[in-house]
Amino acid sequence: MDKDRSARDRVIVGRLIDALPEAVIVIDAADRVSAVNAPAQALFPAVRPDDLLARGLRAPDVLDAVTRARASGHPERATWLERVPVERYFELSVAVMDGAAFEPMMILTLHDLSEARRVERMRVDFVANASHELRTPLASLLGFVETLQGPAREDAHARIKFLGIMREQAQRMTRLVDDLLSLSRIEQNLHLRPQTPVDMVSILRHIADTLAPMARDNDVVLKVDAPAAVIVGGDRDELLRVVENLVENAIKYGASEQTSADRRVEITLVAQERQCVLSVRDHGPGIAPEHLPRLTERFYRVDAGLSRAKGGTGLGLAIVKHIVARHRGRLGIESTPGAGATFRVTLPLKGR
Ligand SMILES: Nc1ncnc2c1ncn2[C@@H]1O[C@H](COP(=O)(O)OP(=O)(O)O)[C@@H](O)[C@H]1O
Ligand SMILES: [Mg+2]
Repeated sequence: MDKDRSARDRVIVGRLIDALPEAVIVIDAADRVSAVNAPAQALFPAVRPDDLLARGLRAPDVLDAVTRARASGHPERATWLERVPVERYFELSVAVMDGAAFEPMMILTLHDLSEARRVERMRVDFVANASHELRTPLASLLGFVETLQGPAREDAHARIKFLGIMREQAQRMTRLVDDLLSLSRIEQNLHLRPQTPVDMVSILRHIADTLAPMARDNDVVLKVDAPAAVIVGGDRDELLRVVENLVENAIKYGASEQTSADRRVEITLVAQERQCVLSVRDHGPGIAPEHLPRLTERFYRVDAGLSRAKGGTGLGLAIVKHIVARHRGRLGIESTPGAGATFRVTLPLKGR
């Protein structure tokens, strides 16, 4: 193979792979990199033209696949997992280009499957969590049914007590199923932005009224501070759920805690030029920084026992996050442990 032709081949191949959206690396017969396109360079900055492939891509499974493909002349596949600096999962296919038209070379096509793998893992975790959450009240329900059929059959006092517990467990399952259903409904419509005019102030007042008994029972004072009216484009029922979830959490986990000296929950709405900002602030124990990024994950709770005892499903903030996303808004959470938490929802005003 003469030098000129080999150089020309490299240029052509380089141009060709630059036109492809996939990450592609081309190596020569001596395992040296002859061309890398931009997507591959972005994924593997250490892979450099003219270097040995093994220098830039330290993945034994990949090098094995290359060796196998070279020996057999057939395409090969490999997958590998990188753990540092962040976990990434790749799939690679190696094709052999051999023949009269070209200098012998191998084409490596790489797929970053990290995101697909993360989504798949989330799905598996979600099913496991949901099943677990349902199984616990179901087991307790069955236990009481068996007790009432057997040892406590004639015991009127036990019957009343057990039926009360059974009712609570059944209600807990109903709440969970309701939350799961609304989550899936919101997710299905995530790309459809709701556009009905909704007054956020009337929502705030409505929730403050409906949660007033709960606040009173917990010795919490709700304070609302809002202008006369603030109109956003949205879905009224969904926005009610957002405010309800946040205020309920502030009462349950913030203001009503034994450690909370200041038992106020401040619900504030501020209208700006293009958007409005709703904040729900409590002065309770707050949330440690390591929990903050995970709080909106399904079933994530700082203290699962406390959440269950207060009738929580662990889905409230996941629902809030999805509704806010559907309205093209943002959810922010700030907290200083020991000094309370602020949940802030920013929504575009109607027509913005
Ligand atoms: N205002 C708050 N103060 C302290 N912790 C909170 C607050 N709001 C939410 N959390 C924490 O976030 C978790 C998730 O909330 P959420 O998704 O609404 O689920 P649930 O209320 O059903 O437990 C709660 O279990 C609690 O640990
Ligand atoms: Mg909640």
